[in-house]
Amino acid sequence: MQLDGLTALASERKDQTILGLFDKDANRAGTYSASTGDLLFDYSKTQIDHDTRDALIALCDAAGLAERREAMFSGAKINETEGRAVLHTALRNLDGGPVEVDGLDVMPDVLDTLQRMRVFAEEVRGGAITGAGGSFSDVVNIGIGGSDLGPVMATHALSPYHDGPRLHYVSNVDGAHIADTLRQLDPTRTLVIVASKTFTTIETMTNARTARAWMMDGGGDPARQFAAVSSAVDKTESFGIPKDRVFGFADWVGGRYSVWGPVGLPVMIAVGSNAFDAFLRGGQAMDVHFRAANWVENMPVMLALVGIWHRQVLGHTSRAVLPYDQRLLRLPAYFQQLEMESNGKSVAMDGSSLTMPSGPVVWGEPGTNGQHAFYQLIHQGTDVVPCEFMVAAEGHEPELAHHQRLLLANCLAQSEALMRGRSLDEARQRMASAGLQGDELERQARHRVFAGNRPSTTLIYPKLTPFVLGQIIALYEHRVFVEGVLLGINSFDQWGVELGKELATSLGPIVDGEESAEGKDGSTAALVAYALRHRD
Ligand code: F6P
Repeated sequence: MQLDGLTALASERKDQTILGLFDKDANRAGTYSASTGDLLFDYSKTQIDHDTRDALIALCDAAGLAERREAMFSGAKINETEGRAVLHTALRNLDGGPVEVDGLDVMPDVLDTLQRMRVFAEEVRGGAITGAGGSFSDVVNIGIGGSDLGPVMATHALSPYHDGPRLHYVSNVDGAHIADTLRQLDPTRTLVIVASKTFTTIETMTNARTARAWMMDGGGDPARQFAAVSSAVDKTESFGIPKDRVFGFADWVGGRYSVWGPVGLPVMIAVGSNAFDAFLRGGQAMDVHFRAANWVENMPVMLALVGIWHRQVLGHTSRAVLPYDQRLLRLPAYFQQLEMESNGKSVAMDGSSLTMPSGPVVWGEPGTNGQHAFYQLIHQGTDVVPCEFMVAAEGHEPELAHHQRLLLANCLAQSEALMRGRSLDEARQRMASAGLQGDELERQARHRVFAGNRPSTTLIYPKLTPFVLGQIIALYEHRVFVEGVLLGINSFDQWGVELGKELATSLGPIVDGEESAEGKDGSTAALVAYALRHRD
């Protein structure tokens, strides 16, 4: 990606304020926004103007984005370091035609598994499938990373639609997680879903074995009360999960892109197969938009270009995802994996070193909670943090419409405050009105200055329905894809997680006290020694 032209344009505009751009262009909000379906993405509160947007858009053609996009959708092996296609879009291809990998249409298998999931989910929900003690009161999903974050996020997001059994998620290998979860449950009426693409992940397999022992000790029946979701079907069988309880998916579904398929099973059990279908249709609607819209009207593309502008051109190291929607409380964590595991790379696809910054740190919390925690830094800290606000026009609780109005007002107020800021003169006037004078007025006023001109975007949607959630998740998936193509990296591998896993395995016997820490660095050896000394 050639950024020189953009960097030069940015430096020419260093004194241009966002407010100034609004003054110059009465239609700025309309010009610098994109919409699809009922979603509106407003990026007018950024420093992007006509020329910089043109230069950003030119990057798409220079990178061959249209060809790369079609390569992904048509099943080419674009995950080159693992030799795999990238086809999570096939999982939501409900109305589309065939999708081929190695000359074979994958859709019959995808649709067959989806149908098996629907039948299973409805039987669990309706009580046709039971545990040793009767109908299932609770479902525990055991998985981590992509086998956890997506379903957790979607379960929270869709809580108004949740009419199935209670759902619990166990991910951490910390025994506290599974102990605290299982303590409240009946082992004879709990369904355990073991979700792992590889079925080797140490956290998940450890938790799965602990859950199986708990169930057997408590009179439950693992043969009736366990299901598995995996690409490694042979391994699920050796774990003892009956074939008809195993929901497989292909290796062309990346973990962090897997919520659309069998990994979404707990969500389907919670909200029912119709609501889950609506979620898939929302994702598919975004796919159709992403493939058809020209660059400037293309929401994922413009979201990505705003990301490139802030990170690679202006050099801002992080971005905050700020949903003003309490039910999206796990969305920032979900996006953290989606974006950072995908685009946190320092080597380009061809093996050369990346010559520009990789993806940013992604973090966030729902508003308005964040306002009372970290927004101080966003408004007055020395680093600029581009903010991505999200908000619904309407909530799910008509009787609490006044809450929603306050929520929306707060969301809009934050983006306005970031842009507008407060000048030293304004701060002085306030201090003078409060009765201060002289040096003290000056000193106090300086603490009350807001630099302003801080960029943000806002995604606004009518209401958080399953369809809208599907649109939002697919929007961000495609954003990550576009950013990855422009960076020239492979967004679909994750070699960076391997080293820690290997070292943890080698440290196991040392931490158990069975092997000496000799050969380890001094810090690691000292920490092991401490742990061994303080263990009962
Ligand atoms: O360690 C990272 C990772 O491989 C993620 O990419 C993945 O989502 C997670 O672990 C869980 O993997 P699995 O589904 O194979 O258990």
